Amino acid sequence: MDKKLMAATAAAMVATGKGLLAADESSATVAKRFAGVNVENTEPNRRAYRDLLFTTPGIGDCISGVILFDETIRQNSLAGEAFPKLLERQGIIPGIKVDGGAKDLPAHPGETVTEGLDGLRGRLADYFKLGARFAKWRAVITIGKDMPSWGCVEANAHALARYSALCQEANIVPIVEPEVLIDGDHTIERCFEVSEATLRATFQACYSQRVSAEHMILKASMVISGKSCAAQAPEAQVAAMTVECLKRSVPAALPGVVFLSGGQSDEKSAMHLSLMNRNHGSDLPWPLTYSYSRALHQTALKAWSGRQENWAAAQSVFAHRARMCSLASRGEYDYDAEKKAA
Ligand code: 13P
Repeated sequence: MDKKLMAATAAAMVATGKGLLAADESSATVAKRFAGVNVENTEPNRRAYRDLLFTTPGIGDCISGVILFDETIRQNSLAGEAFPKLLERQGIIPGIKVDGGAKDLPAHPGETVTEGLDGLRGRLADYFKLGARFAKWRAVITIGKDMPSWGCVEANAHALARYSALCQEANIVPIVEPEVLIDGDHTIERCFEVSEATLRATFQACYSQRVSAEHMILKASMVISGKSCAAQAPEAQVAAMTVECLKRSVPAALPGVVFLSGGQSDEKSAMHLSLMNRNHGSDLPWPLTYSYSRALHQTALKAWSGRQENWAAAQSVFAHRARMCSLASRGEYDYDAEKKAA
């Protein structure tokens, strides 16, 4: 195990003022996103859209790493350069989503377990050769009546830990992502309880599988009211409860924690992260930053809408969101900054 390489990768992923771009949507998820803006889900269109994002001038100032999908890590840019090379040239680390998706968990209606461990050792070796220095595996935890079950939490924690150990063997930094979904009418207190149990189970499983805490990154969901909960917790409470939950359940040895946006608006996901860093940053053992997909590039996708003439406008929208997220990671984002910079 090359611990020096992994420590350097992890530190660079969460460097001050930077965060990750999640551009690892599977072709099926891209189909949904493209359908929303009337773009046909073809390989050339997916490649063009990723090119638009990765060639946006200046993104290396705000983006430390990009999570790629299997198809993308093997593709060339429109100018003919391999995407991983194009990113590296801008000081951006290529990463790769390696999970095989969330599949129905037998005997647990409504719950899933993430698959993809079979053959993973060989795939990781290939991805390393293609330039990937970190990986992502997303587990999905749903809050609902009698959910999550312990069986679901445990099965997902086990898979996350097995994946992490395989990544570290291949000198790839694992991002463990146990996402507690925002869907539902649950309270923020219920989200806290489920998030704490999920994180504790995940790190216990990582310990059992001898995963090195110093060489992994957590991708967490925020502790937040369910999307259809009538009483939405205020922003400062989301920040405070998320930080409290992490402090209870995440080893201090981790190099960093990144967040998913999970269906929050662009502004909310930036504000919540900013408040965590502004109000609690000095009191935390890890840097907190972003690893957003939708909250970083859904507005750019809309601005592009598959049309060549919108290319520059879409890149400027994307650069703006990246700058706003960068401010949030320093605790300097607020709605005035958003307006002034727009
Ligand atoms: P969102 O920011 O859109 O939630 O996506 C992040 C991600 O990578 C989910 O796995």
